[in-house]
Amino acid sequence: MKPSKKNPKSSKKKTCIGVLTAGGDSPGLNAAIRAIGKTAIGKGWNVIGFRDGFLGMLEDRWVELKKEDLANILTVGGTVLGTSRLKPHRMGTPKGPVDVRDKLVATYKRHKLTALVCIGGGGTHKNALKLAEKGLNIVTLPKTIDNDVAHTDSTIGFATALEIATDAIDRLHSTAHSHHRIILAEIMGHRAGWLAMGAGLAGGADVILVPEIPYDVNKIAAAIKRRVARGTKFSIVAVAEGARSIEDTRAYEAARQAGKSATNAAQKRIAKTVIAKLDADHEDNIFRLARQLNTLTGLDSRVSILGYIQRGGTPSHRDRLLGTRLGTTCVERIADGKFGIMVGVDGDRITTTPISKVAGNLKTLPLDHPLIRSARHLGTNLGD
Ligand code: F6P
Repeated sequence: MKPSKKNPKSSKKKTCIGVLTAGGDSPGLNAAIRAIGKTAIGKGWNVIGFRDGFLGMLEDRWVELKKEDLANILTVGGTVLGTSRLKPHRMGTPKGPVDVRDKLVATYKRHKLTALVCIGGGGTHKNALKLAEKGLNIVTLPKTIDNDVAHTDSTIGFATALEIATDAIDRLHSTAHSHHRIILAEIMGHRAGWLAMGAGLAGGADVILVPEIPYDVNKIAAAIKRRVARGTKFSIVAVAEGARSIEDTRAYEAARQAGKSATNAAQKRIAKTVIAKLDADHEDNIFRLARQLNTLTGLDSRVSILGYIQRGGTPSHRDRLLGTRLGTTCVERIADGKFGIMVGVDGDRITTTPISKVAGNLKTLPLDHPLIRSARHLGTNLGD
């Protein structure tokens, strides 16, 4: 894939669409890029890919995606286009946030794009909405291993990450069992517990902690001690990155409320500082929890952070199929002149939802979700 300097020769006559991937990478992105590219080329269109998300669009770094560039990428993890977390309406600079949307609009016009496809998660949907407000024709596809994008059952990358996290929990069982230890596995998901709950349940974790259910460490310790009393001296605790104790959740909610009801800049600043401090303190939460469980149960405790391994590697068949279905459908919608929408899934059905309904709307795990009900039936401790 060679970088291009000039606009595609025939861009004046042909329909041309742009595509970018933004936010954290995830397996299955290349399946979506391939599907968009092949379907669009099949219609006689030109396709350009912006490098590194919105940053590439800002700097006008792009490549023309030809058929040969789309070969052999279906099974490759990550994104061949690269990604970044730049927010065009609030780009961070040493002097504070700056709105650079007009520059992206200029790039869009320079390439005479008919539409821009943005593949991303929560942040990308906010960015896409802000760009659509500037008059760009945008279609989005939902992607994140966290599965927390609203108005879609699934997001590109979630299924693969679920497999990886489940496999990790399987592997932790034998070592925890051999050493009679508690092993806490940290699973990605800052604001939603889909991955931790799914992998925890599939891997048979004894305790599953998610952001939606604030935990009481004494209740977790009591559950582990009951296992010991029954003769099982090891426990696996699946912990979502964003899981917090009841006390920490209260402090966090109070700070968020204070930010929301702030009536002047000083109050807003204070609330932001408090939230930043709570976030910083939360970074080693799992180690604190391991120490607490060690003290309360007397069992040796260890931590395993699954981290970026969950986002890497070959996409599962589910993510390849999801990326392919969403990618092909998104080009059909563009051909129909439908913009300002996210193409998602509801069961087997492909759906379209206005981006305005998706942006800023987090899909958390409902407390009465079948996964939670099943976990409770099985006697899995959820920290409450
Ligand atoms: O993209 C979602 C996610 O993988 C989260 O689960 C995780 O908390 C975050 O990204 C990590 O972000 P970064 O790649 O910026 O470190």
